[in-house]
Amino acid sequence: MVILLPFILLLLLLLLPLPLLYFIVRPRPVRIPIKNRHVFITGGSSGIGLALAHRAASQGARVSLLARSLKKLEEAKESIRLSSGSDVSIFSADVRDYDVVEKAISDAGPIDVLVVNQGVFVPRELEKQGLDEVKFMLDVNLMGSFNVIKAALPLMKQRTDRSPASIALISSQAGQVGIYGYTAYSASKFGLRGLAEALQQEVIADNIHVSLVFPPDTDTPGFERETEVRPELTNILAGSSSSMKADSVAKKALDGIQSGSFIVPCNFDGHMLAIATAGLSPQRSFWMAFIEVSFAGVLRLVALFFQWNWYRCIEHWHAKKKDT
Ligand SMILES: NC(=O)c1ccc[n+]([C@@H]2O[C@H](COP(=O)([O-])OP(=O)(O)OC[C@H]3O[C@@H](n4cnc5c(N)ncnc54)[C@H](OP(=O)(O)O)[C@@H]3O)[C@@H](O)[C@H]2O)c1
Repeated sequence: MVILLPFILLLLLLLLPLPLLYFIVRPRPVRIPIKNRHVFITGGSSGIGLALAHRAASQGARVSLLARSLKKLEEAKESIRLSSGSDVSIFSADVRDYDVVEKAISDAGPIDVLVVNQGVFVPRELEKQGLDEVKFMLDVNLMGSFNVIKAALPLMKQRTDRSPASIALISSQAGQVGIYGYTAYSASKFGLRGLAEALQQEVIADNIHVSLVFPPDTDTPGFERETEVRPELTNILAGSSSSMKADSVAKKALDGIQSGSFIVPCNFDGHMLAIATAGLSPQRSFWMAFIEVSFAGVLRLVALFFQWNWYRCIEHWHAKKKDT
């Protein structure tokens, strides 16, 4: 017993912040119901968005999808009808066009769960990337998200069903850490974080809860196109971890949305990144807050090792190029 005493004291010391964290975490925990609610997904005709649509429909949600290609939307609608028997509403619109987005959203009716998922990614070094391509990514990924949220917000605030509502933004791990070849894409996804953190404060009084989902590489048609043009160094730095299935990412995303989590990681690396980059972001779970507080220092050290390895790879790559 005497031998155990120091360990018990250490444990008590470590657990001391728990009551304080329980008291201070904000916003307070919440549960977002999905069944019989209107889930509106942009970019819902393909990849992660389509997988989310299947999951939401199978849980009894009324699902609406928005994307540009009507053909892909019709195929998505049919595949969801076949798998869950649900009738999905589809809207052909480009998120870059505010008026068209606003019309689609007002035709769809008040939204309970808005998933802003559309995204384009063309990895290339900034020096080799045209500004038109940079603008394309910023316009679709960031400005398009503003358009969708701005159009949906008034109706979400006026919803007659006063249950908690959600706005979920699909970011990327490249929205937590900058990686070679992703200057424009990372900028567009880092932008979503600022949007989400400020928006959460603006909509909390309306019982609307913001989630920011950080998928890793995920097997989707978009990812397949991306890998064809990825710079060699991007592959070396980012290509070592294996990709996830779209359905697994959709499950993590929907679970995170339903539990009202602000940061939603999708795999082990994602959890580590979430803790390492927690910064001043909201946290509802006092357990997660406890983990963040306890591991912040050691994860900073791990992050420094990652940076050391990445810069070492970049140095070697340039040295090899010079030799050939
Ligand atoms: N796959 C990955 O490895 C990965 C990793 C991290 C994060 N993400 C993020 O996850 C989200 C989904 O990616 P994904 O891999 O599932 O992509 P995807 O398979 O290429 O699907 C993209 C969806 O967005 C729609 N879309 C594209 N541009 C649009 C626009 N201007 N207006 C309206 N809809 C538009 C597409 O339909 P149309 O082309 O018909 O418009 C499609 O439905 C993106 O935000 C992406 O950045 C993906």
